[in-house]
Amino acid sequence: MAALSSAERAEIDAEIAILPDARSASIEALKTVQRHRRWIDDDALGAVAEYLDLSKHELEAIASFYNLLFRKPVGRHVVLVCDSVSCWILGNEAVKQALEDSLGAAFGEVTRDDRFTALPMQCLGACDRGPALMIDEDLHGPVQPADVSELLRRYP
Ligand code: FES
Repeated sequence: MAALSSAERAEIDAEIAILPDARSASIEALKTVQRHRRWIDDDALGAVAEYLDLSKHELEAIASFYNLLFRKPVGRHVVLVCDSVSCWILGNEAVKQALEDSLGAAFGEVTRDDRFTALPMQCLGACDRGPALMIDEDLHGPVQPADVSELLRRYP
């Protein structure tokens, strides 16, 4: 599924139309592809590069600065766990362990049922709610280890 779909092209075109040039649209274009495919494999990255008239290497370099672009497979829901100092002080290690136990998968892996991937992330901007995590677009915190299973149940 490397070639861009017509829906992907239309969304990328809409971004290009409001930005000064194709390069400026590169992050949004990659986010578009990710929205459609969950993650961006090498072929998809190549297809976006070709569409924006950038080299694959150039686009890869741009993508590597943005840690919410997934270059490896992820589950249907992505759990971003704050790995910064405030949350660490507030006990995020125990939350991370509870998460791995509940998921039966280590950070970076896709669960067997294809539902989740947990990833560590720098400060989520919710330090007053630590330990904090996000599931998809939803911020949760403070999260206690005992809360984790119930939280995950809300994301079928
Ligand atoms: Fe965890 Fe800021 S340190 S949200």
